[in-house]
Amino acid sequence: MDFQLSEEHLAVRDAARDFAQNVLKEGVIERDNEQRFPKDEIKQLAELGFMGMMVDPKYGGGGMDTLSYVLAMEEISKVDASVSVCMSVNNSLVCWGLETFGTEEQKEKYLKPLATGEKIGAFCLSEPEAGSDATSQRTTAEDKGDHYLLNGTKNWITNGSSASIYLVIAQTDPEKGHRGINALIVEKDMDGFVVGAKEDKMGIRGSDTHTLMFNDVKVPKENRIGEDGFGFKFAMKTLSGGRIGIAAQALGIASGALDLAVAYSKERKAFGKEIMKHQAIAFKIADMATAVETARLLVHKAAWQKDNGENYDQSGAMAKLYASKVAMEQTVEAVQIHGGYGFVKEYHVERLMRDAKITQIYEGTSEVQKIVISRNVLNA
Ligand code: CAA
Repeated sequence: MDFQLSEEHLAVRDAARDFAQNVLKEGVIERDNEQRFPKDEIKQLAELGFMGMMVDPKYGGGGMDTLSYVLAMEEISKVDASVSVCMSVNNSLVCWGLETFGTEEQKEKYLKPLATGEKIGAFCLSEPEAGSDATSQRTTAEDKGDHYLLNGTKNWITNGSSASIYLVIAQTDPEKGHRGINALIVEKDMDGFVVGAKEDKMGIRGSDTHTLMFNDVKVPKENRIGEDGFGFKFAMKTLSGGRIGIAAQALGIASGALDLAVAYSKERKAFGKEIMKHQAIAFKIADMATAVETARLLVHKAAWQKDNGENYDQSGAMAKLYASKVAMEQTVEAVQIHGGYGFVKEYHVERLMRDAKITQIYEGTSEVQKIVISRNVLNA
């Protein structure tokens, strides 16, 4: 077993670290306060090749592996999880889904601008009444011969207004249940497509989360991904990889909190010495570092399995379940170590704590990850 990262992997990690620390950090508090989408920062991220990292270079991507992707996700998420969720959805849901299951024409038309970051993508599965219970799609895609007529509402859509290409999951034949669902590529300027209200969120406030409405949107048949009825499996397969990305995001939030807690405990003095010299703090740091390292091993293992053609449904779910728990718990610890300073925005840890919570909710709640893991373990 080789735990050593290659030169190439280290170079990707360092480039992402440099970008996060030197570009993203400066305005992150302001973007969070103002709920401002990081438009310029995403443009620069695209110039680094981070919006289509794993896509084949023939479609404008970076041709990198999943391990490179999670290394970059961790570094970006240490500083700005609003940037990394946009990056994650574009890379592991939209680009991966299109590259793996799209037709050559779909890849030419849609994947290329997404992989270069010229356009941003969104993944539209959740609905007002279909969150964890994803088979209960109410959005309909009625088969009209040469096109589908799309009607319905999607909720909690990351990149909701900043995207211009949307992968929309909808029910075509309710009698067939999940086998009657399709995945369609929808363009923002199609008639009848309306970007609705933006959510005012506790965390990842820089990312734009919207409700989307589809009113008689005509989607050409050639925009369907895969065979008729493949939409639900498309969503599940895509989310399996997406969960590795969100696990890496959670890992980054936790390791970012650890870095801040370490730095603060070396600076801050109490009772005549740096607080790191008090065992109460040193032991907290030891627990945090152990949890972060364990999460990292799970994330890297899931990425390694994906890169090596192994099944990663279980390892991805485990990585997400555990890393998101670590993110939540360790950001709370980091705030505690900072005392009153941890409660104010200037010190960054309160934002990491707010950002951590969503990693236990999106791309499948912790409970959904437990369904996936238990079914795999029990083979049921
Ligand atoms: N790969 C391939 N096929 C899969 C699969 C996978 N990973 N998981 C399930 N399937 C297939 C099953 O084999 C089954 O097909 P057959 O009947 O042909 O065998 C079909 O899909 C239905 O599967 P289940 O019976 O397991 O479905 P279920 O209703 O019990 O639900 C679930 C399972 C895991 C709870 C699923 O509904 C789920 O993952 N829900 C959560 C949805 C989610 O993650 N939403 C996040 C929204 S996206 C997002 O958050 C992005 C963002 O903006 C950040």
